Amino acid sequence: MKNLLAPQTLQFTRTANENARPAAERDAILADPGFGKHFTDHMVDICWSEWGGWHRPRVQPYGPISLDPSAAVLHYGQEIFEGMKAYRWQDGSIRTFRPEENAKRLQRSAVRMALPELPTDYFLESLKELVAADGDWVPSAPDTSLYIRPFMFAKEAFLGVRPAKKVNYYVIASPAAAYFSGGLAPVSIWLSSQYSRAGKGGTGAAKTGGNYAASLVAQAEAYENGCDQVLFLDSEHDRYLEELGGMNIVLVKKDGTLLTPASESILPGITRDSILQLAKDRGHAVEHRPVTLDEWREGAASGDIVEAFACGTAAVVAPIGLLKGTDFEIRHEATDVALSLREELTGIQYGRVEDRHDWMLRLDA
Ligand SMILES: Cc1ncc(COP(=O)(O)O)c(C=O)c1O
Repeated sequence: MKNLLAPQTLQFTRTANENARPAAERDAILADPGFGKHFTDHMVDICWSEWGGWHRPRVQPYGPISLDPSAAVLHYGQEIFEGMKAYRWQDGSIRTFRPEENAKRLQRSAVRMALPELPTDYFLESLKELVAADGDWVPSAPDTSLYIRPFMFAKEAFLGVRPAKKVNYYVIASPAAAYFSGGLAPVSIWLSSQYSRAGKGGTGAAKTGGNYAASLVAQAEAYENGCDQVLFLDSEHDRYLEELGGMNIVLVKKDGTLLTPASESILPGITRDSILQLAKDRGHAVEHRPVTLDEWREGAASGDIVEAFACGTAAVVAPIGLLKGTDFEIRHEATDVALSLREELTGIQYGRVEDRHDWMLRLDA
C-alpha cells in the first residue's frame, strides 16, 4: 500500500515524561538491564490513515496504548516489527547499524501484510527522535546496547478480514545486557520435525508476529529436549534447512566456504548479510543456495562441514555445538570462523574496527 499522501518532512511534537526515572534509578537499571525487561521513558508514535497518510508524529511518555476491543490487530494479526540496536561508542556518541536495511525490511514486511510502507526518512527520523529523548538510556559497559523495537499494527476498530484503514507506527527501546554473559558457549539446537514456521507463499520472509507465535510450541519442544533453540526445515519437502526461531544459520566447510540456505520463506537477516560480506572481504567463498539437512549430516560425518553458527541482531553470532533430531545428532567442536567474524562485526558496531562499508549511522547528532 503506497503512501502517496505523506508530507515531505514530519514535524514531531515532543511531550516530556514527567515521571521519567531519576538518573540514579536509570543507572541502577543500566548496571543490570537483562533483555527486554526495562523500557526507556519515551516512545515514538506516528499515525497513518487511508485518507490522511502518515501524520501526527510524536514523542510521548512511554505507556499503555489505548485500543478498541475490536482493533483489527487483536483479531487478524495485521502487525509487523523490526529489531535493531544503538551502541555507545567510547567517545560517548550513539550509533546504529545499517538502519536503512531495517527500514527496507519493514517496508517489505508492510507490503506482504497489506500495511502502509513507512518512508525510510521517517524511519530514520523516528530513531533519532527517540534517541534525542532517551539517549541517556544507551548503556556503555562492554557488549551492552539499547535494543530498539519499531513496530506497526492495524488499529482500526472493525471486525472483518480486510486491510485496516487506520494504522499506527511506534518505536520503543529497552537497554540490553551482553547477550552471552558467561562467555560464548556453543548453543544446542533442536530440529523440529513436527512443526513448520512458514510455508510456500506464506509470511516467513516478513517480520510479523504470527511467525513467532507459530514457533513457540516448537521452541517449547526444544527446551523439553534440553536444547536452547529450534531449527525449522521447509514445509514443502521437509528436507531443506530454513532458520531458527529468531536467527539465521550458516555452515562452514573445511575449505573455508560459508554455506547458508536460500529460501523465500526465511527472514533475510541483516546480521547474516553483514557477516557474509565480511567473510567475502577476507577471501572466503560464500554459497547462498538451498541446503538440505542430509548435506549437513553427510558433510559433518565426512569432515567436509566443520563449523556451524546462528546469527541475528540479539546474539550477533552464536556457534552451534549440537543439532539434535529425534534419531540423530550432529556435533561441531570448531568455533574459530564464527568467533573471529563476530569479533570483527562487533568491533565495527562499537567503533573499535574501521567501518569500511559505511554501515554505522550516528543517531545523536
Ligand atoms: C526469524 C528471524 N530470522 C532471522 C533473524 C536475524 O535477522 P537480523 O540479523 O536482521 O536481526 C531474526 C531476528 O531479527 C529473526 O527473527
